[in-house]
This record gives sequence, structure tokens and C-alpha cells, in this order.
Amino acid sequence: MNAAIRAVVRTSLGRGVEVIGFHHGYEGILKDESFLMDSKSVGGIIDRGGTLLRTARSKEFRELEGRQKAVQVLHKNKIEGLVVIGGDGSLTGALALHEEFSFPVMGLPGSIDNDISGTDFSIGFDTAVNTAVEAIDRVRDTAYSHERVFVIEVMGRKNGFIAVEAGLAAGAEAILIPEVPYALLDICHQLKSSAEKGKRSSIIVVAEGAARAVDIKDFIERNTGFELRYLVLGHMQRGGTPTAFDRVLALRLGAFATNRLLSGFTGEMAGVDGTKLVSHPLSYVLSTERTIDPDRLLLAEAMAI
Ligand code: F6P
Repeated sequence: MNAAIRAVVRTSLGRGVEVIGFHHGYEGILKDESFLMDSKSVGGIIDRGGTLLRTARSKEFRELEGRQKAVQVLHKNKIEGLVVIGGDGSLTGALALHEEFSFPVMGLPGSIDNDISGTDFSIGFDTAVNTAVEAIDRVRDTAYSHERVFVIEVMGRKNGFIAVEAGLAAGAEAILIPEVPYALLDICHQLKSSAEKGKRSSIIVVAEGAARAVDIKDFIERNTGFELRYLVLGHMQRGGTPTAFDRVLALRLGAFATNRLLSGFTGEMAGVDGTKLVSHPLSYVLSTERTIDPDRLLLAEAMAI
């Protein structure tokens, strides 16, 4: 997100436009946590995870009255256009500002979950996946040496994008995600038959929305007699040095969204389609569901024999 903020600020300044930042998202607008951003204010942040603007959830902004107040604060600060970076909640707020007040807005997809429609990648996903893969690789050393089965839980409350990508890249023997029903007994049979063929270690990747790693571990132990270990990666996937892919993606999206906003476009979210930059109406983005590529699931299955 920091790379995106850097791109928004420097693209605007390059076009002679002043930039005001708000700390703590919509909550920060309501509390008027505004500050002037110059080029230096976004220096030295491209390699930092998280967001220098901080973030917050805002109950007040979810109500029409709250949004009316927010628009007043924006007008008071002479804000003529707003760039919002975030997931579902942030983009829904941006759409409300656009539809209810015709306030000029542009959205940027920021979510490690990669569940935002209208873009192949959202900012943070690649870093989260690489972090998960590195952790799984490390665990595999123990799994191999100690001949054990490990269950590793990755983030993804409602979807399995991180689980599928990290599971594929780390060579997981099974990937469990909320979108696809699974039979744990089948996995137990698979583990037993692999063990009979001489395979003594396996990694099962589970998205947090599919099940808790500890429950999967207990079930498999009860039904196979094997001794398992489990690990919950949790919030470590949300931070750390962003990958080069994420930084460049964020820079491109940030600059593109800013240029579109300054050219009079509004109510859209910038995204990528393959290598191309695209922009879709927020109403489309928020009413369309992004689904897991079935070919990836087939590939994972084909690799798990
Ligand atoms: O929505 C993004 C996400 O990272 C989910 O994958 C995860 O379940 C959730 O956020 C964690 O949110 P919190 O930090 O509020 O617990």
C-alpha cells in the first residue's frame, strides 16, 4: 500500500496538484486527521509493509449521517477528489461517496486475499503468498526429516486464493479452501496409501475459512494413527517487505488511478488484466464475485498423486 500512496502523491505533485492525506481511513476523515503530503513525506516507504497512513474500521461512516459529515470534512479541506485503497469495505465506502454525493473517487484494490473483482491481482497478495510459501518451505524441512504430516493454515476468511497459490508453489499434497467441499476421510486414505508407497511426509494447506488447522490435524490423527503437527501463519502474511511484483503493481495502479481521477473519471477502480492496466466501475467491481481459476485446482489435484 505504501508504494501505491507514493505513486498517488508523486503523480499528483508532478501534475501540479496538492495532496492531502488522511490517517485512519474513513474514521480519519470523520475526525479530520488530514495533513499535507509533499514528495518527501512518501520517501523511504516503498520497501515497507502496512500503510504509513494507518487504517481503521469506521462504524460511523457506514451510516448515511456519517458519510454526510465526511463529505463536509472533505469540502472543508478543499478536497476535489479522493483515492481510496482497500478491500470490500473501503471500496463500498468509495462507491457510496460517488453515488450519494457525486464526490469524485477512484479505488485501488488493496487486499492480501485477492478476492476483488476487476483485477487479476490486488496489492499485497503476491507478498502474502510469497511469505506463506517461504514459511511452508521451512516447515517442509522438518516434515521431511521427521517424516511427519503438517497442516498449515493460511489467511482467507471467505476464499482460498492464498491457499491455492501458496499450496501450488510449495508443492502441498492437499489444499483445502472454503469454495470447494472436501472429504477429510479421502485425505486420510490418500495419506495412508502414500505412506504405504514410501512417502513419509506431507503438507496440507488449509485456508482459515475452510477449517481450523488444529481440527484437521485432530481428525487425521484419529483416522490414520499418524502423529501430525499444525501451524497457523496468521498475521505474518499481512506484513514484511513487499515483493518487487507488489511494489511495481502498486506504483502502476496508483499512478494510473490518479491520472484518471485528474482527467475527470470517477466511481471506478483501477486494476490489471494480464499486463494491461484497466479501470472498471466500482458498481461492477462490488457486484461481481471473483472466483478461483478451476485449472489451478485441477493442477493441484494432478500434482498430489
Ligand atoms: O480480509 C483480509 C484478511 O487478511 C483475511 O484473510 C483475514 O481473515 C482477515 O483479514 C484478518 O483480519 P483481522 O486482522 O481484522 O483479524
